[in-house]
Amino acid sequence: MTAAPAAPNSKAPATGARIIAITSGKGGVGKTFVSANLAAALTRHGLKVLVLDADLGLANLDVVLNLHPKVTLHDVFTGRSSLDDAVIEAPGGFSVLLAGSGMVEYSRLTPEVRNEFINVLQTLAPRYDVVLLDTGAGISDVVLFSVSLASEVLIVATPEPTSLTDAYAAIKVLATQQKRQHVRMVVNQAARPGDGRAITSQLQQVLDRFVTTESGRPMRLLHMGDIPADNAVREAVMRRQLLLLNTPGCPAALAVAQLANKIQSTLLA
Ligand SMILES: Nc1ncnc2c1ncn2[C@@H]1O[C@H](COP(=O)(O)OP(=O)(O)O)[C@@H](O)[C@H]1O
Ligand SMILES: [Mg+2]
Repeated sequence: MTAAPAAPNSKAPATGARIIAITSGKGGVGKTFVSANLAAALTRHGLKVLVLDADLGLANLDVVLNLHPKVTLHDVFTGRSSLDDAVIEAPGGFSVLLAGSGMVEYSRLTPEVRNEFINVLQTLAPRYDVVLLDTGAGISDVVLFSVSLASEVLIVATPEPTSLTDAYAAIKVLATQQKRQHVRMVVNQAARPGDGRAITSQLQQVLDRFVTTESGRPMRLLHMGDIPADNAVREAVMRRQLLLLNTPGCPAALAVAQLANKIQSTLLA
């Protein structure tokens, strides 16, 4: 695997894995759903995948995967448990490191949280082909810090105007604070095929006018795919099962599989 280039303006660990942050402007748009199912799809490609629940304040990857970890990131951060004990296997065959509850005290970015985060990634990332960071939403310090540890950023947005304005705000901060030249975009809960591409190019037009990167070029939005709104997603969440295992043939599952193909061919080849 290619070494992940250090994220701009961060102390990102040099690792053997591609670290991809899955983030959003607005909450509840499908980051955890995408992280978990994308991990399952990439695992089917034969890749070694780790998902890190980086949404420290509002962690819920465990709920989606129906896992009840005895050891969480909280125990690692407090030195109660070793990192190895905290990494567990999820249904779908990938590894997860869950934040669990009790992480509320880490929703503020302290030097301790920074160091712990960096240590965890520095230790684990070399063992995987790809690490997905299921981050929190928005532009708080903790969210931006976890995103800064990733070499690539996948923004999840829905076609709702509120989601798009929040995505715009987040992308703008990533251009200015993290000096990123591009971010990748997936439109979730799309109503019609083609919606995501249209929305991405509208957002690109706004970025072209108002956001310039350090290089003087506009911030580039790279459209990676769309996932349709699909009742099977809600049903899988209610049953606490991965969509890719529960209903692999449904439109949303097929779209996630396609997203995984695109990520593999563009980022992991
Ligand atoms: N493609 C989709 N179709 C239908 N419902 C979806 C879809 N994606 C997400 N959802 C719904 O949105 C909820 C929130 O998703 P989640 O991944 O927890 O968001 P986030 O991690 O961004 O807060 C899910 O529990 C599910 O019910
Ligand atoms: Mg989430």
